[in-house]
Amino acid sequence: MMLLTLLYSCIGGAALLYVLYRWVIPAVVQYHTGLALLWHDIIEERMLDMLTRSTRPQRLLHAVQKNATRGDPRSVINAIDQFCRHKEWAMNVGDEKGCILDSVVSEVNPSTVLELGTYCGYSTVRIARLLPPGAKFITLEFNPKVAKIARQVIAWAGLEDKIQLVEGASGDLIPKMKEQFGVETFDLVFLDHWKDRYLPDTKLMEECGLLKKGSILLADNVICPGTPDYLEYIRNSPRYKSQYFKSHLEYTKVEDGLEKSVFLG
Ligand SMILES: C[S@@+](CC[C@H](N)C(=O)[O-])C[C@H]1O[C@@H](n2cnc3c(N)ncnc32)[C@H](O)[C@@H]1O
Repeated sequence: MMLLTLLYSCIGGAALLYVLYRWVIPAVVQYHTGLALLWHDIIEERMLDMLTRSTRPQRLLHAVQKNATRGDPRSVINAIDQFCRHKEWAMNVGDEKGCILDSVVSEVNPSTVLELGTYCGYSTVRIARLLPPGAKFITLEFNPKVAKIARQVIAWAGLEDKIQLVEGASGDLIPKMKEQFGVETFDLVFLDHWKDRYLPDTKLMEECGLLKKGSILLADNVICPGTPDYLEYIRNSPRYKSQYFKSHLEYTKVEDGLEKSVFLG
């Protein structure tokens, strides 16, 4: 009898924990900036890493290999969005802001693109699939383990010939863009790396002459986690005309947005 009671308590406890983890906590945190990031980006990731003995990027890649069709970028994007909405949050630009990113890429129709922060290659695939033939697209990622996953995601989408993934820190690589990578200027730059690098890297791109009149900077996460120094600079500098696109932090209801800034020369 005692054993049976113990067994029922364990099953009940486990079920309660599962309901909390799967539904209650995500529902509560999705409206709160700090809690959403704390839960998804720190607690949930560490817990799942420990339990599954794998990393979030590895789990994301597995979802792509299981659910996406090889050579079909749209199905890769869908597989990642499904995984992140229903299984495990990840810091991709996401489906909602991704539509804004798509419309900017289509509008600019760039010949040269720089992405700062590849992570698992989600936004890289989104951008590359919309580029005109012959466009040069460089994406920078300084975490080699994540870059290895991104290469596999990009290859699964069949876009490896359209993307040059370079491993290293933006601050080291931006000054090498002209001589080492043969780029004169970028038509479009997507800033989505660590938020404290947006401003110094923008100033570095200016110093290195990588922006021309009409170049577009598109910056993610300007509200959450937020880039106050970058926004202050880009909105007040006479060298830019800037516009905010209101949206939500990927896969949540927390406000976030993209800042699109035209370099005026
Ligand atoms: C928010 S994630 C990028 C998400 C990706 N753009 C997407 O939407 O799928 C930020 C990535 O930038 C990388 N990163 C951060 N600072 C960097 C830097 N200074 N240079 C290169 N990569 C950086 C991180 O390792 C991380 O993988």
